[in-house]
Amino acid sequence: MTVIGLGAMGRALAGAFLDSGHPTTVWNRTAGKGGELTERGATEAATAAEAVAASPVVVICVLDYDAVREVLGAPARNVPEGSGAPGTVTGLLAGRTLVNLTNGTPRQARELARWASEQGADYLDGGIMAVPPMIGSPGSLILCSGSPETFTAHERTLSALGTVSHLGEDAGRAALYDIALLSAMYGMFGGFFQAVAMVGSEKVPATEFTPLVVSWLEAMLTSLPEMAKAYDANDHSATASNLGMQAEAFVNLLDAGRDQGVSTELLEPMGALLHRGVAANRGDDDLSALIDLLRTNPARGANARSNDAGSE
Ligand SMILES: NC(=O)c1ccc[n+]([C@@H]2O[C@H](COP(=O)([O-])OP(=O)(O)OC[C@H]3O[C@@H](n4cnc5c(N)ncnc54)[C@H](OP(=O)(O)O)[C@@H]3O)[C@@H](O)[C@H]2O)c1
Repeated sequence: MTVIGLGAMGRALAGAFLDSGHPTTVWNRTAGKGGELTERGATEAATAAEAVAASPVVVICVLDYDAVREVLGAPARNVPEGSGAPGTVTGLLAGRTLVNLTNGTPRQARELARWASEQGADYLDGGIMAVPPMIGSPGSLILCSGSPETFTAHERTLSALGTVSHLGEDAGRAALYDIALLSAMYGMFGGFFQAVAMVGSEKVPATEFTPLVVSWLEAMLTSLPEMAKAYDANDHSATASNLGMQAEAFVNLLDAGRDQGVSTELLEPMGALLHRGVAANRGDDDLSALIDLLRTNPARGANARSNDAGSE
């Protein structure tokens, strides 16, 4: 096993492979980050090429796709073929499996999968739904996509990192789920920050208030499956809290924020969306009707609907 990239996440990945008894070679752009891993038995390669040549499976986890392409010598997008930097690993990947666990977009994943295939490499893309200390535990979820045969061949090895889940042949699917889950997470964090800043404006300690936030959010989470059902069925009519009422009440969130000296920058986009919902005659619908308004290209995706035009 080779692990390229020894940031916080790469070190955790390499450590989990070592813990599972896999001989592991590591490499990082800036030398000196492999010390603790080599003490535990890892081999530190002097170059990325040496690291790739060391193992049939190469896991890469660096900052972003530009860094992945730089390390692998894959031309940046829109650069002619064959212009990889000299001294890179291009040419060494043939016959190996590249597992890219770097965060990116579905488009970036699909483009890199195409490039890897041109190099004669098998490719799996992955999204890590965990923070470094969780890696290796069952709570660490590794979303994978790409060839099912390649996934099956390496599933056991990858399970050293946590619970691995294969989402299908399309290399972009893991990134799509990863980005969607992170979007949900940041929405939740944004709401929490706003709530803490609001009560903090009257010196309520965050630690005192947070248990209430947690139980409130847990109660609200139970409404998500019903909203999902409404979205899939394109029927948002069942509601106890219609969108029009919520658009009215939401003005109070903005006014109170201003009164309390708390920025409303996180809330304003939701307020604008609620009012766009009312303007699109969705005021009697459930809040879930807002999901339809988020798609800027209604013709795209499995949930595209023939009657969307009127709601945009
Ligand atoms: N940490 C988390 O909680 C977490 C959770 C899920 C997913 N992820 C994803 O995991 C990936 C790595 O995150 P991290 O936490 O390990 O980040 P990090 O601690 O900031 O480390 C970044 C890594 O990328 C390398 N790098 C950056 N630019 C490079 C370049 N141009 N060429 C070669 N190497 C380059 C760095 O090498 P140098 O040491 O030489 O700078 C370092 O190894 C990211 O895509 C991140 O989104 C992280």
